[in-house]
Amino acid sequence: MFSRYKKNTTATPKVTTLPPKGAAPAAAPAHPPAQAAPAEPPKPVSLRRPTKAQPATAAPMDKEAKRRERIGELKLELHRELLDSLNLAALENATESDLRAEINAITDEVLSQKNVVLNRDDRSTLNKELFDEVKGLGPLETLLQDETVNDILVNGPKQIFVERAGKLQLTNVTFKDEKHLMRIIDKIVSAVGRRVDESNPYVDARLQDGSRFNAMVPPIAVDGSLVSIRKFKKDKLGIDDLVAFGAFSEEMAAYLQAAVSTRLNVIVSGGTGSGKTTTLNALSSFIADDERILTIEDTAELQLQQTHVGRMESRPPNVEGKGEVSPRDCLKNALRMRPDRIIVGETRGEEVIDMLQAMNTGHDGSMTTIHANNPRDGISRLENMVAMAGIEMPLKAVRSQISSAVNLLVQASRLQDGSRRMTSITEITGMEGDVISMQEIFRFQRVGLTPDNKIIGHFTATGVRSHFSERFRLWGYDLPTSLFEPVAAE
Ligand SMILES: Nc1ncnc2c1ncn2[C@@H]1O[C@H](COP(=O)(O)OP(=O)(O)OP(=O)(O)O)[C@@H](O)[C@H]1O
Ligand SMILES: [Mg+2]
Repeated sequence: MFSRYKKNTTATPKVTTLPPKGAAPAAAPAHPPAQAAPAEPPKPVSLRRPTKAQPATAAPMDKEAKRRERIGELKLELHRELLDSLNLAALENATESDLRAEINAITDEVLSQKNVVLNRDDRSTLNKELFDEVKGLGPLETLLQDETVNDILVNGPKQIFVERAGKLQLTNVTFKDEKHLMRIIDKIVSAVGRRVDESNPYVDARLQDGSRFNAMVPPIAVDGSLVSIRKFKKDKLGIDDLVAFGAFSEEMAAYLQAAVSTRLNVIVSGGTGSGKTTTLNALSSFIADDERILTIEDTAELQLQQTHVGRMESRPPNVEGKGEVSPRDCLKNALRMRPDRIIVGETRGEEVIDMLQAMNTGHDGSMTTIHANNPRDGISRLENMVAMAGIEMPLKAVRSQISSAVNLLVQASRLQDGSRRMTSITEITGMEGDVISMQEIFRFQRVGLTPDNKIIGHFTATGVRSHFSERFRLWGYDLPTSLFEPVAAE
């Protein structure tokens, strides 16, 4: 088919076959051959770069794939054998080494029965996979144990992606089939007393290690179950790590320390997976140890370092639609629990009302995250949430409530090269007429791209003096004026 943008791959008609200009037409055949057609007008040059169609395929070569398949079949058979010969009740209490020994013995027996010889590596892989199957989460186990993996994303049994350093990669890990995948999903959700099936096709849960888990099963998931896991990091990235990674600058860290210590209300805004929770967690390290902190989350992810922390996890309704404890319920209750600070993992619904009220009425120093792509959007998002919570309030009143509740918006972003950075720190300074006035204090200034598409840029102050300078000074955080001076581009 002819496409204006398609690359011209067919040979261009040879100019020599055309009659010379002005020459009398030769006795042309009744049906001239196609190549003798008059020259096409030159094709417009595409302004776009050619896009490389890069099918996401895993690396394994044919031979390797076959080998894996053979081991997969063996594993299945061995697994069946194992389930027959193991006493599942005793399994619960078996020590890891006992179970491994048992598995080794059964593998040896079956392999010799079948006259199959495996090399030492294949054999230990097989034993490990069997162990993971019986005790852990099957094929996912290796990825869960891989420290470099942040997210695990399963699109049906044969396609598992991981996120490493902000980039998605297809792995060669697969499930045998949808049934196998469902078995693992069931194992996870039944461990937390939940169920997932056709009538209840999606579920949130927390894995034993604290990782956040979400699954959606067919028929809603069309090509097989969809699973997303946000791995739990035992050692959450702290302020120093984030500064070292280039997520923000030392100057920004000093400013944020003053902001959190002097109890400004902070909202971390950002897209999905942009590092909001990580930033919130890092910011919380600036809270003094003698404060009573209450945290409210859908899935407990925050790891606060302070001594006096009360953690709450909201609960969705059960199969009969009962038993829900919404974030708003938790928040209302938290206000009766004498908190010094309230941290809400993510504000996405009607709890926004109580959050704003809490921030306005004595629980300053509270923090939360919202989904938004820039600080201005963040404010609109808050306004929309208030409107959707069914509160009949004039827009100006909503805005004035927001402007007096929120002091600081911290923008987290995942940039196109996979790096996560704090791209803006913006203060809310009040209202000007009907509009909330804001001033950006720090930002990430992009300069360009390296040949391998890494972003070049630097953090800089905008030169605007902080609205809270006086407050910082009174609380003993005398930030030098040089902190707020813009950094010249190198
Ligand atoms: N600056 C950073 N450098 C490297 N990795 C980071 C950085 N910030 C966050 N991460 C990693 O990125 C992943 C996502 O971070 P996080 O959970 O904080 O994102 P989020 O915005 O809260 O995501 P979600 O929208 O799903 O709640 C985590 O595994 C985290 O460890
Ligand atoms: Mg989060």
